[in-house]
Amino acid sequence: MILVKLGGSVITDKSKPFTERRDVIKRLAEEIHSSMKDSRYNLIVGNGGGSYPHIPANKYQVHKGLKDANNFKGVALVQDAAARLNRLIVSALIDTNENVVSIQPSASILAKSSKIIEWNLKIIQEMLNLNLIPVVYGDVIIDIKQGYSIVSTEEIFFYLANNLDVKRIIIGSDVDGVIDKRLASEKKVDVITPSDRKWITSSISGAETIDVTGGMKTKVELLLTLAEEKGIESEILNATKPGLLELALKGKKGAGTIIRPN
Ligand SMILES: Nc1ncnc2c1ncn2[C@@H]1O[C@H](COP(=O)(O)OP(=O)(O)OP(=O)(O)O)[C@@H](O)[C@H]1O
Ligand SMILES: [Mg+2]
Repeated sequence: MILVKLGGSVITDKSKPFTERRDVIKRLAEEIHSSMKDSRYNLIVGNGGGSYPHIPANKYQVHKGLKDANNFKGVALVQDAAARLNRLIVSALIDTNENVVSIQPSASILAKSSKIIEWNLKIIQEMLNLNLIPVVYGDVIIDIKQGYSIVSTEEIFFYLANNLDVKRIIIGSDVDGVIDKRLASEKKVDVITPSDRKWITSSISGAETIDVTGGMKTKVELLLTLAEEKGIESEILNATKPGLLELALKGKKGAGTIIRPN
């Protein structure tokens, strides 16, 4: 099974509130569909929030929990924004003839300090058994420590990879991979393994745009942990470049940064 993320930085313009990129969403849905033509495989799609939920999440500081009554409005707005963007992804995939089903994380996940502690995956497993494609997304989640928190698509993938039989994770972003900021050339790193953890995480800032869940840094940290503890290989690639996602889904490696066990 593959987990694929359509990054919020790709499917929306993160510098402008509520601006989805419909042409890009359509292209990525078609790339996913084409990758299935020759041989079908189990797939879970996740979409990032981009300029939909990140905007109200940041305005009401929802990721920090329920500090005052104002945050409750943020919960409602984030939940709505995240679901609305997810429906656009779901519609685009249905238009390609893929049988996808939206999974609303806020209805079934329980978190503690932004980490998922409970999620019954039986339903998702049954959907996969029926050859349906679940589409998950970063969402605002009930948190037993702080009331509510924001759980990113990466955090959701982390839980799925720890509890289902996941072979590969592909993260579509708006950069060519993880950039080594120590170099003036700012070239992407080809391969990262757990022994690189120290220098790589200090070389990554969060996101340059608004991102309440830690941007590239959290992505790399979670994927390194999955490589180390579960032996799962991931790749972060540039999904704004047409065709790269499709090739990766078909098994081609190396267009972006590969994160794998030592
Ligand atoms: N060393 C680095 N290499 C690559 N990207 C980096 C680095 N440091 C910071 N970044 C930033 O991380 C961003 C990608 O993370 P971000 O979370 O914003 O995207 P996303 O996951 O597609 O969005 P979303 O969370 O909405 O799904 C890049 O656009 C870049 O600005
Ligand atoms: Mg992000």
